[in-house]
Amino acid sequence: MKQPVEITQPTGKLGILLVGLGAVSTTFIAGVMAVRKGIASPIGSLTQMGTIRLGRRTEGRSPLVKDLVPLASLEDLVFGGWDIFEDDSYSAAHTAGVLDESLLEQIRPELEAITPWPAVFDRRYVKRLDGPNVKRGSNKMELAQQVREDIRRFKAENGLARLVMIWCGSTEIFMTPSPAHQSIEAFEAGLCANDLTIPSSMVYAYAALKEGIPFANGAPNLTVDVPALMELAQQQGCPVAGKDFKTGQTLIKTVIAPGLKARLIGVRGWYSTNILGNRDGEVLDDPESFKTKEESKKSVLDYILQPDLYPQLYKDLCHVVRINYYPPRGDNKEGWDNIDLVGWLGYPMQLKINFLCRDSILAAPIVLDLVLFLDLAARAGWSGIQEWLSFYFKSPMHAPGLYPEHDLFIQLMKLKNTLRYLKGEELITHLGREYYD
Ligand SMILES: NC(=O)c1ccc[n+]([C@@H]2O[C@H](COP(=O)([O-])OP(=O)(O)OC[C@H]3O[C@@H](n4cnc5c(N)ncnc54)[C@H](O)[C@@H]3O)[C@@H](O)[C@H]2O)c1
Repeated sequence: MKQPVEITQPTGKLGILLVGLGAVSTTFIAGVMAVRKGIASPIGSLTQMGTIRLGRRTEGRSPLVKDLVPLASLEDLVFGGWDIFEDDSYSAAHTAGVLDESLLEQIRPELEAITPWPAVFDRRYVKRLDGPNVKRGSNKMELAQQVREDIRRFKAENGLARLVMIWCGSTEIFMTPSPAHQSIEAFEAGLCANDLTIPSSMVYAYAALKEGIPFANGAPNLTVDVPALMELAQQQGCPVAGKDFKTGQTLIKTVIAPGLKARLIGVRGWYSTNILGNRDGEVLDDPESFKTKEESKKSVLDYILQPDLYPQLYKDLCHVVRINYYPPRGDNKEGWDNIDLVGWLGYPMQLKINFLCRDSILAAPIVLDLVLFLDLAARAGWSGIQEWLSFYFKSPMHAPGLYPEHDLFIQLMKLKNTLRYLKGEELITHLGREYYD
């Protein structure tokens, strides 16, 4: 046993600040409420259902994750958030059309009580969207102040002990780091000067970090992934995680690709396409928002297959990703993958995957795990990028100079070893020689 990390106990209520009360957020909130009432199960959530092996295989110690590390309990979660539409969480969930009416009715009063605060929003950054519930201010610093006031009011009114913010808003247009993103001073000057390279999501992230609140980014937007906000996160002692929830097609890609590489099976082409009819699909129909998503989805294979190490197998891989907005399907996405493989002596093979998934059903447990783990990280005194949470993201944030880890199984091992480390338990290397000595 090593020295455990000192972790403050999760006493009191934990406020969850959701930017965007759309399909993912309402499926998450309604899900937690249904689980609390005992009318549904938190399937897909590692913090609620996962176990973790400790010590040798012969010891038979595999507690639940939530029994190993001190996580906030579902009973202690309080929800608040912003949206450009005025709908309360019940009607937003209804519009999203993910959950059955019969389930929503059972938690209707609690959902109706969560109404969105006016949002920081500018159509410049999400072209296919517009709504009435928007803050006004003479510059972006003023808007950030208004977000900070919302946070303080929510905290005081609900007697919250701690908070976590998570971006579940629409995907913004593709952006790259600008001079205003390089330092806290440049960023703050940019907020005051309405710098065009500071989109709405950065205003929320800045407000959260200034309030000392951990921040996670569920979309592929740049948001907190710039030097100025990383510096602020360190300065304020805030853990951050991102970007872009790993669900659906990319989740399956990061399951299959490591398997093919493990057996040194070549890949000549990987064509992924899907149809999606929810509001997210509508926003992604705009080429500038799609580019942000495309970059996030495409990087995965390069990092997993390592063409530089295996040029014969993966160098000229043709990787195509398409998303087609198709309203009749709503949130029920259908994805097709065609993978062109090369085996022994160069013989071709094909693998076809047809995944009929529900986007928000896959994303909601990720939101739950992320907010609970980020709160844990904050109580353990950790700040900055939480690479051990890469497991949940399509484009995991990473330290400069490092390449991101995309392989789902390496990511899970990293996550579980981090939990063991927190508790002073032996890390598991799977070497296993001790059983044969
Ligand atoms: N569902 C998934 O599997 C999945 C996976 C990865 C990433 N994502 C991302 O998560 C985000 C949410 O997905 P969704 O399906 O819930 O989309 P959605 O369109 O149903 O919800 C997004 C909500 O954010 C609101 N919004 C947009 N800009 C805002 C702003 N500046 N401030 C406050 N609210 C704002 C919109 O009005 C909308 O209600 C999207 O960016 C999506 O790309 C989802």
